[in-house]
Amino acid sequence: MVALCKQLCLLCHGEREMSFIFICGALSAMVGMKKAKEKMLFKDIMVELLMREIVMLGSRCCIHLYLFVDAALLTDKQSNKIDVELLKSNDIFKAFSESMKRMGAIGVKFSSIQLIDGIRHCLSGFGKAGCDLLQERSHSRSKMNMQTAFIFACVVVLTVVGVCQAGDLRKNYYSTSCPSAEGIVKKITQKFVARNPGLPADLLRLHFHDCFVRGCDASVLIRSTANSKAEKDAPPNLSLEGFEVIDEIKTELEKKCAGKVSCADTLALAARDAVSFQFQKPMWEVLTGRRDGKVSLASEALANLPSPFFNFSSLLRNFESKGLTVYDLVVLSGAHTIGDGHCNLFSNRLYNFTGKGDQDPSLDSTYAAFLKTKCRSLSDTTTKVDMDPGSANNFDASYFVNLKHKKGLFQSDAALLTDRTSNKIVGELQKSTDFFREFAQSMKRMGAIGVLTGNSGEIRKKCGLERSHSRSKINMKTAFIFACVVVLTFNGVCQAGDLRKNFYRTSCPSAEGIVKKITERLVASNPGLPAALLRLHFHDCFVRGCDASVLINSTANNKAEKDAIPNLSLEGFDVIDEIKTELENKCAGKVSCADTLALAARDAVSFQFQKPMWEVLTGRRDGKVSRASEALANLPSPFFNFSSLLRSFNSKGLTVHDLVVLSGAHTIGDGHCNLFSNRLYNFTGKGDQDPSLDSTYAAFLKTKCRSLSDTTTTVGMDPGSSTNFDASYFVNLKHKKGLFQSDAALLTDKQSNKIVGKLQKSNDFFREFAQSMKRMGAIGVLTGNSGEIRKKCGVINS
Ligand code: HEM
Repeated sequence: MVALCKQLCLLCHGEREMSFIFICGALSAMVGMKKAKEKMLFKDIMVELLMREIVMLGSRCCIHLYLFVDAALLTDKQSNKIDVELLKSNDIFKAFSESMKRMGAIGVKFSSIQLIDGIRHCLSGFGKAGCDLLQERSHSRSKMNMQTAFIFACVVVLTVVGVCQAGDLRKNYYSTSCPSAEGIVKKITQKFVARNPGLPADLLRLHFHDCFVRGCDASVLIRSTANSKAEKDAPPNLSLEGFEVIDEIKTELEKKCAGKVSCADTLALAARDAVSFQFQKPMWEVLTGRRDGKVSLASEALANLPSPFFNFSSLLRNFESKGLTVYDLVVLSGAHTIGDGHCNLFSNRLYNFTGKGDQDPSLDSTYAAFLKTKCRSLSDTTTKVDMDPGSANNFDASYFVNLKHKKGLFQSDAALLTDRTSNKIVGELQKSTDFFREFAQSMKRMGAIGVLTGNSGEIRKKCGLERSHSRSKINMKTAFIFACVVVLTFNGVCQAGDLRKNFYRTSCPSAEGIVKKITERLVASNPGLPAALLRLHFHDCFVRGCDASVLINSTANNKAEKDAIPNLSLEGFDVIDEIKTELENKCAGKVSCADTLALAARDAVSFQFQKPMWEVLTGRRDGKVSRASEALANLPSPFFNFSSLLRSFNSKGLTVHDLVVLSGAHTIGDGHCNLFSNRLYNFTGKGDQDPSLDSTYAAFLKTKCRSLSDTTTTVGMDPGSSTNFDASYFVNLKHKKGLFQSDAALLTDKQSNKIVGKLQKSNDFFREFAQSMKRMGAIGVLTGNSGEIRKKCGVINS
């Protein structure tokens, strides 16, 4: 056994005594497992986990470990003992090809994903809690006693990740190539921190924003060029600071050892040294050997950085997409123990949480009152407030203490209390020593996300530029296509690939005709219906994709999307129900509610033209989940400014162009007074009017909406032609007659303003709208065997 373990460790990195001992322990445990079921479950967990690691890190070491565990377990299953021979290298390679074949065949099972959460908890050093969780979850899965397996699964995984997570990163990578590197970083960083106590927060955030976009490759430091808007110019990065500190350190490093030390390592080290200054000892280990990336795209920053408006599930999805866990999410959020946040990123919680001028009930009211003295109105985009009230320059656990007392600043902070596991972890991090230990672990994992090592990337000479300037020379079209593919794939829009023209051609040939006929009949007697159905389709697609989740009724145990505040004014449900009844009569169980809605929205708008205004591909299936909280988190608010709007659309894989074009839907329909009357009566909290609103139009609106508290009156959104689908929305918008702040916001960005200018003619608008609707209709669709075909659109099939 000892020989085996040694060989394995050599395959990885050589002399790592601890890993060696752990692996041996795990091996012994496997041999000790008597029940075949136990072994299989253990293997299940290991294989899946390691596959994820392989995908995430591309690390040779992990592949060896994967092989090792897989081969050992399979062999063990057959002969009830570990086949020593398999670990000899020739056999490893034979086993490798076998395993690769199997890997392709292994499906991800929901149950094992849940188990992995538990294992990963163990990884974060939460040994006991993690194993408890794991046990809890597995008990619901099977009744076997899995304790041994869990404990050793934790140990193995700890080992595997301990050894492999950092991939090719090493301790003191520059010990021969630039022995003074780490000292230089520390010295200059400390000099700056002594002068600027806000710097630790700045550098920590800079490092985080670097790692979450293309991995920790210093892509966040690259400047935009004439042809390419870089990450640092994406809206969530505009408030980043600390670039000049990295530049100064880098200049010194280049003087001492030119071309040796990467900007990515410089940033990782400087962030650690800045935070550690207060303690006069390193607060976490930074392995080094990162190289610098050559690509930096603003669109990727938007698509990959979590938003302060995210709810828990969006946050978790985001962290998991980087290979991090719920534990990392909570622990790393503790970074908000230092630094400050801009008012406009949380003032909706103070002044207009659900669109009714109300306060977020999950925010402590005394704290809210204090915040209101700092942030005077919804439109304050400049004031900043400490994130950890009372100790914002002190790195400690008080963030978690405050959070428990409902004093988290952002919705994304408060969201950590809304999930049971996450809430429990918040509870476990109230003491600084616990927090520091966990933070050290999670930072190490974050610092290893997608790192470039070996010959990948380059060592940039100046962190703001690429060494070769090759980017300006690369064919921008290829870069653009690549960016689109990355962003679209990331957001699931590529799944449009599974939608087809006339999907029901054989299964229900009359489907599209039925939808059209009934829709047209109902539109003829209700000219407001096109607007209602178009909005219904939009609100469906932006929450869990176009899966008709917006149509599901709430139950005793579940508040569904349709009962979320922004959806209370939706209409047209009865129309979809009527069409669906007829479809079930003609071809039971064939046509989804999601397709029915997409087609009906198109046919309703098209009625005026007596020809289809955009193509609707079909083959969507219906979702089985509908949560009010997700609607709140995902639907853009009429109070959003441009960057929040863009972030919302980007998070669905849509672009600034789609945002502007689709806003043109406001050429039809009505809006409720309370959603814009702050622009008439109290724009900045001083009883004033929004200066970006045309004053004659404002005077007219005041005759309709008599006070701030009018929540019932509605007004045509496109003055003069609000039942006519045309380009006049854009003409009015240019004349400062957009109804909502979110409409007016489209003029506040240069690019977006230009697009508004280009859509003044109906033909241009129609052409672009057809394209953008196709993209919107493909967001996160369920196809193939996913979801179901609901029998009634309001109810999930039992
Ligand atoms: C850009 C972000 C958007 C925001 C913030 C927004 C917000 C709103 C709001 C607040 C209303 C009025 C609701 C009421 O007062 O009851 C409204 C109405 C409407 N929205 Fe949007 N919307 C956006 C984008 C879109 C998109 C992309 C579409 C469709 C493609 C759309 C289609 C409509 C329609 C047709 C109505 C009128 C509904 C009716 O009269 O029944 N909106 N929107």
